[in-house]
Amino acid sequence: MSKHTIDVVVNGEVIKSCLSLAVQANGKSVTTIEGLSCEGELHPVQEAFLNCGGMRCGYCTPGFIMTTTAMLDQNPNPSEAEIRKGLNGNLCRCTGYVSIVESVQAAAHKLATK
Ligand code: FES
Repeated sequence: MSKHTIDVVVNGEVIKSCLSLAVQANGKSVTTIEGLSCEGELHPVQEAFLNCGGMRCGYCTPGFIMTTTAMLDQNPNPSEAEIRKGLNGNLCRCTGYVSIVESVQAAAHKLATK
């Protein structure tokens, strides 16, 4: 797997866009990082990554955020182990994952209290 992949959500399931043919998304709902915000308001997952230091570079951050969004849709209250397992396809060798995990936990809390 490439270090840098861009994840998108297709019909609620996160996929690696670089490993998928466009025709496979025909007729399906596709959400990209650009589609998460609404009317100029950041999505709660985007806010959590911004506020908790989970933001990284432009290659890996969209993947972390899209994977987190899909993960929290399926499991709104994941444990730390579940978060780490859920993010294991998203790689960043530049920094650690502590603030990314904290961002996911903050996003889960934010979505639960929304
Ligand atoms: S790959 Fe994005 S900061 Fe490391």
